[in-house]
Amino acid sequence: MTELSPADTAKNAAAVAAVALVEDGMRLGLGTGSTAAFMVRRLAERVQAEGLHLRCAATSQATADLAKSLGLKIEALDDIGWLDLTLDGADEVDPDLNLIKGGGAALLREKIVACASARMVVMADGAKVVETLGAFLLPVEVIPFGWQTTRQLVLRVLDKLELEGRAVTRRMHAGAPVLTDEGNFILDLALEAIPDPAALSVALNALPGVVENGLFLGICDLAIIGQPDGSVVELTVEEIAE
Ligand code: A5P
Repeated sequence: MTELSPADTAKNAAAVAAVALVEDGMRLGLGTGSTAAFMVRRLAERVQAEGLHLRCAATSQATADLAKSLGLKIEALDDIGWLDLTLDGADEVDPDLNLIKGGGAALLREKIVACASARMVVMADGAKVVETLGAFLLPVEVIPFGWQTTRQLVLRVLDKLELEGRAVTRRMHAGAPVLTDEGNFILDLALEAIPDPAALSVALNALPGVVENGLFLGICDLAIIGQPDGSVVELTVEEIAE
């Protein structure tokens, strides 16, 4: 096996610790992104080695494809119903375990799956831990119809919340707009810092063309932060508040 970079060592360590929480018979949500991909690989190893019986729903087509290629069975969320545990990555984690997600454009399915779970555990490397959310671009999923009007409405929301002058750009890849698994566009909001994430989330989601935003507030129960030496630090809201 090729040696992992320090960043990948940290992601893998977080993923290994997260998969250790999985118990036979669980209904699981599988996240999206490079850290989640380490988790899916480790999960597949455990299923093969231990014969675990799991029911898994994926947060993206990419994760479903990876999981199936490793022998995991993926079911539709609605065929499983409520989940016991979702394991996912994040783009930013703040001291209250509020998150920015959606760097991989999967925020909508990720939020639906996380909110269908008794417990959401985030796996991340230390670079994702921040004091204040917002240095990472905040993804907002919008429907293609009238998206430029929706963008103007997003700018008005930012003005009202004293976040005027921030850039709002439609995410592109190889010269074409990025399409989510639901066929929508992503607007990336360059906010620098988000002083009141709850107010912003409510205001964005009140716009008719907005499907969902990448703020995950009060959803994450535990963050497992991998370190470059392969160790992990676990963060919970209670411990941080002490
Ligand atoms: C996918 O849409 C995202 O929410 C990912 O979970 C997030 O971007 C973290 O991805 P990495 O683990 O690749 O950093």
